[in-house]
This record gives sequence, C-alpha cells and structure tokens, in this order.
Amino acid sequence: MSDYVTLFEMGPRDGLQNEKTLISTPAKIELIDRLSDCGFTKIEATSFVSPKWVPQMADATEVLAGITRKPGVKYTALTPNLKGYERAVAAKADEVAIFGSASEGFSQANINCSIEESLARFAPLVDRARTEGLPVRGYVSCVVRCPYDGDTNPAKVAEVIAQLLEMGCYEVSLGDTIGAGTPETIRAMLAASLKVAPASRLAGHYHDTGDKAIANIEASLDLGLRTFDTAIGGLGGCPYAPGAKGNVSTIAVAERLHALGFDTGLDMEKCRAAQAFITELKEGAQ
Ligand code: HMG
Ligand code: MG
Repeated sequence: MSDYVTLFEMGPRDGLQNEKTLISTPAKIELIDRLSDCGFTKIEATSFVSPKWVPQMADATEVLAGITRKPGVKYTALTPNLKGYERAVAAKADEVAIFGSASEGFSQANINCSIEESLARFAPLVDRARTEGLPVRGYVSCVVRCPYDGDTNPAKVAEVIAQLLEMGCYEVSLGDTIGAGTPETIRAMLAASLKVAPASRLAGHYHDTGDKAIANIEASLDLGLRTFDTAIGGLGGCPYAPGAKGNVSTIAVAERLHALGFDTGLDMEKCRAAQAFITELKEGAQ
C-alpha cells in the first residue's frame, strides 16, 4: 500500500470561513501564496456561496484573481449551486466541490434544503462541470454526529457517498463536522462507506473538537485512506455547526505521518512560516 499521503489544505476556506475577525483580501492572498510554496497539490482557496450566509467568503473572486498560481497546485472552491459554479468558473477555479450532508438537520442549517433536494441541485452542476472538464469533489458532512440530529447512521453516509460518486464526483470527503468521532465510530462509518467506494476515492475531513482527529486519521490509514483534509494552524470550523473547532492542524498531522513513515511532500519549514503568518495576523486583528 502507498506510503504517500495527500494533505488537502483547507485553511483559506474551511479555516477562514469561520473567522470572527476580518481577514483582509490581500492577507488571504498572501496566505494562499505562502501555502503554494509548501508542497501541497490541492489548496481549497475559497467558496462561492451566498455572501449573506457566509460574509467571510464574499471576496472569493478577488482572492482567486489575486493569487500567484503555482504549477502543480490545484486551487479549488466550494460551489453550492449553479450560480456558485458559474462564479467559480469565471474566477478560474481549477476544481469545484459540492457539499452535502448525511443528516437532515445539518443540510437544512447549512444549505437550506433537504438531502434529497441538495442532490437534485448538485446534479446539473456536476453535469456542467464534467462537460466543461472541471473535476468535482463531493463532501458529506456530519458523518458520525450532527449538532441537530444526534448520531448519524453509517448506512446513511454510504448512501450519500454512492449518490455523489454516481453523479460523477472523483472523490468524496467525509466530514466529521463537529469533531465528535472516535476511532471506533470512524471505523464503523468507514466500514459502511467502503462497501460502496474504494478507499482511493474517499478522504477524511476530521475536525479536532474532541482532540481525536489524529487518532481518527490513524484508524482511517489502517483502512486504506490516503487523503486527508487539514488546515494550517488548525484554523476554522463551520458557521452552521455550533461547537465545530477547526480542522485538524496540517503541521500536527504531517508530523505524525512522518513519524509513522509516510511521505507528504511538504516542506515543514515553509508550513511553519505560513502558520506563523496567519496566527500573528489573527492575533493582531483581535
Ligand atoms: P438560499 O437562501 O436558500 O438560496 O441559500 P437562494 O437561492 O434563495 O438565494 C438567496 C440569495 O443568495 C439570493 O440573493 C441569491 O442570488 C444569492 P438575493 O436575491 O437575495 O439578493 N445566492 C448566491 N450568491 C452568490 N453565490 C452563490 C449564491 N447562491 C445564491 N452561490 C445557499 C442557499 C446554498 C445559497 C446558501 O445556503 C449558502 O450559500 N450556503 C452555504 C453555507 C456554507 O458555505 N457553509 C460552510 C461550508 S460547508 C462546510 O464547512 C462543511 C465542510 O467543511 C465539510 C465538513 O466539515 O463537514 C465542507
Ligand atoms: Mg469542515
């Protein structure tokens, strides 16, 4: 099995979407430019969602226009609907992502529709993206627990994964949105998920609220997953999931992976400099 692990950097999107202090557009651009030098192949740069829902991402177009694109790095963006997709294409996102949920309560709170309605809304978006040659990633939120509905049935996660893959997503990222997972619940969720998708098409997206994200990554590595979403400095959370701490920290995960003998391709010194940049900026803004 491969000893290379891809860390998909989430800081500029999943991190900054939840910052209470305003991070300026030039600072976001500088953060992404610094991350581009760290060795990531994928950086989620922003999201083309409604600015009324998430004002922190209102400058998505300006952010993508301002960055210096590094060859070999894909700059991705969330797109909840066709309007978001069209904005992302106009801004030259390299890849887009649709984001659904395994729980009805979170689906309503996050994107204002049921799971079924969300999948119906995503289908024409994925069709357009496939016609236009843009890869689409899928997310499933609340894969172990929902802040509104309680524990999630692993079978429901598998059902949504199957629909996202069937629609044309190249990979599905499994979100422990409120960081409630433990190695046991993550294993149970993955056991169901692996019945509908090979490990190579699944990614772990574990928030660190319960301080178990690294243990959950290790459990997922055992089951064959080799892609994980992390955020520099452990930034962020989710505005529609009360209690969601940041994504697991990129540096903490990379260090653990390196200790376990995995390669991430990351330049740790540059990662530390990028982390110091955003941490100082946040502290200065408070
Ligand atoms: P809605 O209010 O039901 O939609 O929101 P609407 O179609 O009625 O539109 C309302 C207004 O927003 C309209 O403007 C639209 O034009 C505008 P008005 O006519 O009132 O002036 N609008 C848009 N503007 C810009 N870009 C767009 C867009 N769409 C509509 N794409 C909607 C539905 C999905 C738009 C809204 O609920 C939304 O934007 N939700 C996004 C919430 C979000 O970004 N959450 C965080 C990301 S998900 C996450 O963090 C989880 C993840 O990390 C994995 C995990 O951890 O689990 C991925
Ligand atoms: Mg998230």
